[in-house]
Amino acid sequence: MAVEEDKKSSRNRTITLTEEEKEKYSKLLHVMEGPAALEEIENKTTNQDLFEVLDWLPRNCVDLLFLDPPYNLDKEFNRTVFKQRSTEAYLKWLETWFPKLLPTLKPNASVYFCGEWRSSTAIHLLLEKYLKVRNRITWEREKGRGALTNWKNCSEDIWFCTVGDEYTFNADAVKLKRRVIAPYRTESGRPKDWLETSEGNFRLTHPSNLWTDLTVPFWSMPENTDHPTQKPEKLLAKLILASTNPGDLVLDPFLGSGTTSVVAKKLGRRYIGIELDAYYCCLAEKRLALAEEDSSIQGYQDGVFWERNTLSMQRASQRGRRRKSAYAQRLRELGLDD
Ligand SMILES: C[S@@+](CC[C@H](N)C(=O)[O-])C[C@H]1O[C@@H](n2cnc3c(N)ncnc32)[C@H](O)[C@@H]1O
Repeated sequence: MAVEEDKKSSRNRTITLTEEEKEKYSKLLHVMEGPAALEEIENKTTNQDLFEVLDWLPRNCVDLLFLDPPYNLDKEFNRTVFKQRSTEAYLKWLETWFPKLLPTLKPNASVYFCGEWRSSTAIHLLLEKYLKVRNRITWEREKGRGALTNWKNCSEDIWFCTVGDEYTFNADAVKLKRRVIAPYRTESGRPKDWLETSEGNFRLTHPSNLWTDLTVPFWSMPENTDHPTQKPEKLLAKLILASTNPGDLVLDPFLGSGTTSVVAKKLGRRYIGIELDAYYCCLAEKRLALAEEDSSIQGYQDGVFWERNTLSMQRASQRGRRRKSAYAQRLRELGLDD
């Protein structure tokens, strides 16, 4: 048992903060004192209560607004607690802040709003009032406690809306690489709509509104922190790649451990993050610093999203690419490339 525990702790990659790191990263946090110009808060983590800064945010600049507020559940976020309430009372709470974020949006902006079944009714009613609701993505969380008298809760929603009818949607940037179960061939013997590779047979499929390829961060993943409701980087990568272009601006006013800002940075987008809790803000800053060295996103490689549990195949594909590029380099050195 002790050996198992040792093995686990040596593979535990959870991002934590030492006292020195807390001090160092808290110096990078921003505090608004009045209406802010975009340059003041861009590519920064603002450590404040959203309600305090709502009227100070710059207008007409955001391309993508990602909303992951406390769900309608009892939940502790470090020093604060969110209390579950009726659907009506949750909707009222959403109304106290959501409409005030709308002036930050550009006319062609997209909005994604996260929830689960208990929060979704209120979220849908809210969004219909102010935006064009385009879809509801449901994603499977593998984690979840089994229940004796109910169905195990293992799905969440992400509502997709836009301000207007013109908006960015890069479907080709968010294709899913799926293993082919029935590898049909054309009459001439060629693969029909799938790819034959040394790692196996795959098909690139269009993204649907049912996502089963996500893994909720856990202790052996390098993106993991001890934030209680951290979203997977892969989830944010899909939304950001689909609904923004490089250089666009992403706003997350409930930043938590920083996932949105980190993924925006890794994908060459600008970001604004707001978070009430100073400890979570410092985690976000540490992740942003780590992203300087490593911009990889687990599950997204070679411009495609991979199914769950394919890490060994992804590594093999990466090795294959490295071998190919080493070979091409050698040809170049010998003057044999054309
Ligand atoms: C569901 S979590 C977001 C998790 C985040 N998406 C991540 O990947 O880590 C909601 C966050 O909102 C923060 N929060 C709650 N009320 C807030 C407020 N009034 N202003 C700013 N942040 C708030 C909480 O501290 C918590 O970290």
